[in-house]
Parts: sequence; C-alpha cells; structure tokens
Amino acid sequence: MRKIMLLIMLCAFLIAACAQKEQGIEKGMPVPGSNVDEAIVENSNDEASVKEFRMTAKQFVFEPETIEVNKGDKVRLIVTSLDVPHGISIPEYGINERLDVGKQVTIEFTADKEGTFTAFCSVFCGSGHSNMKGKIIVG
Ligand code: CUA
Repeated sequence: MRKIMLLIMLCAFLIAACAQKEQGIEKGMPVPGSNVDEAIVENSNDEASVKEFRMTAKQFVFEPETIEVNKGDKVRLIVTSLDVPHGISIPEYGINERLDVGKQVTIEFTADKEGTFTAFCSVFCGSGHSNMKGKIIVG
C-alpha cells in the first residue's frame, strides 16, 4: 500500500516537472503555429448521458404524460406550469416540487429503481387535481 502511494506521488511529481519544463520552453522560444492554444478539455461524458425532458403541467395533465428511461440514467426534468400552480411528486424517488406558473423547475435524479412510477400533481389545482398524473417508466 505504501509503495503504491509512493509511486503515485512520484508520478505526480514527474508530471508536474514535465509540465513546467514545457511551459518554460514555450515561453523561451515562441514557435509560430505552435499548439499553445490547444487547451486540454476534460473529457466529461457526464452531460451527454443526462436524459433531459421538457415537461409542462396544466389542468389536468402533464405533457408528455409518459417518459421512459433506462435504469441507471441520469434524468433531468424541466417542468413548467402553464395555467395555475401545480406540483410534481414522485414519492419513490423522493421528489416533490411546487410548479408555479411560468417558472421552470429543474428536477434531477438517477433512475436507479426499476419499474413504473406515478408522478402525481401535489398542489391542489382544481376539480381534476386527483386525476392529474404522469408516468415514469424505468426499464
Ligand atoms: Cu395539477 Cu393538482
């Protein structure tokens, strides 16, 4: 265990030393068309793997009513109410957000539970309130 730690530290040190050297060279003698500007962009696939859905809520439906994702997906719901205040609650995922009119609410969760889940409207919004439901299918 100690050996590994030492090795890692040594590597880090060497990389740091190398980087410094390179910088020095570049500063010392600017080469035309050198790739100084080539920034090292961290290759993060995080954003790409997020499944994003834009939803609306109005008396007495969610649109789209059903969304389908794969188990393990990171899910982002961007929900806006179009008429009166609503709410969206997915109890199994510990989600309950109020949706005020015209205000985008972003909900993020990891779909780590398989099954079909109901998204309930959680703010009384009129006569059809108790029937205002959406469906999240995680398969
Ligand atoms: Cu919509 Cu209650």
